[in-house]
Amino acid sequence: MDDLLNYSLNENPLTSFLDWFDKANNIEQNALAMAVSTYDHEKNRPNTRYLLYKGIADNKIIFYTNYLSPKAKELSDNPEIALGFYWHVSKKQVRIHGKVSKMSREDSASYFHSRDRESQIASYLSHQSEVIKDKASLLEKFKATVDLFEGKPIPLPEYWGGFLVEPYEYEFFLYGDNRLNDRFLYQLKNHKWEVDRLQP
Ligand SMILES: Cc1cc2nc3c(=O)[nH]c(=O)nc-3n(C[C@H](O)[C@H](O)[C@H](O)COP(=O)(O)O)c2cc1C
Repeated sequence: MDDLLNYSLNENPLTSFLDWFDKANNIEQNALAMAVSTYDHEKNRPNTRYLLYKGIADNKIIFYTNYLSPKAKELSDNPEIALGFYWHVSKKQVRIHGKVSKMSREDSASYFHSRDRESQIASYLSHQSEVIKDKASLLEKFKATVDLFEGKPIPLPEYWGGFLVEPYEYEFFLYGDNRLNDRFLYQLKNHKWEVDRLQP
């Protein structure tokens, strides 16, 4: 497409994503916040929450979470995932569709142990999204976990680790004057990326 260069778009949309992300990350408050949608088959409805974008490995997008959480259960029922980034100052949005797989335990462990100790403890003690009586109970759990591992490393829990999103579709959106927004849709077809300009 003739005008891709004007929008720093490339043949490979991952290159464009990284370019847009790096620019946003220099000027935005929280460029790492990524909306993540899954499908809840039990309740028969979509489910969205924000997670932290943690970079790229092998052309796949990384995030970390609890493997027993609702999102992880939804992803084991259906590995289809939708991601959304909105960068207010940059006036840009990126939407991604892909399929997820679990990161190797070795790679999850190496990231887990790179985090500060308090974050490791918080991940260790949390039964994510389950009900807890009050904040005091949570603080008690924290203290008990601190005591349990005093002087020792926090082990990577079985129920915590990374997910990798392999994208097959990207949409780049840039606000335009008079609502004439620029939108470019990349779709992976027969192992090749095809790109189209979309109407606003
Ligand atoms: C900006 C932001 C970043 C977040 N990052 C993460 C994250 O990286 N991993 C995570 O498990 N939860 C993260 N959370 C919490 C999730 O939004 C969510 O509350 C939690 O993962 C439970 O989701 P679930 O019940 O759908 O599984 C973040 C919340 C916010 C507001």
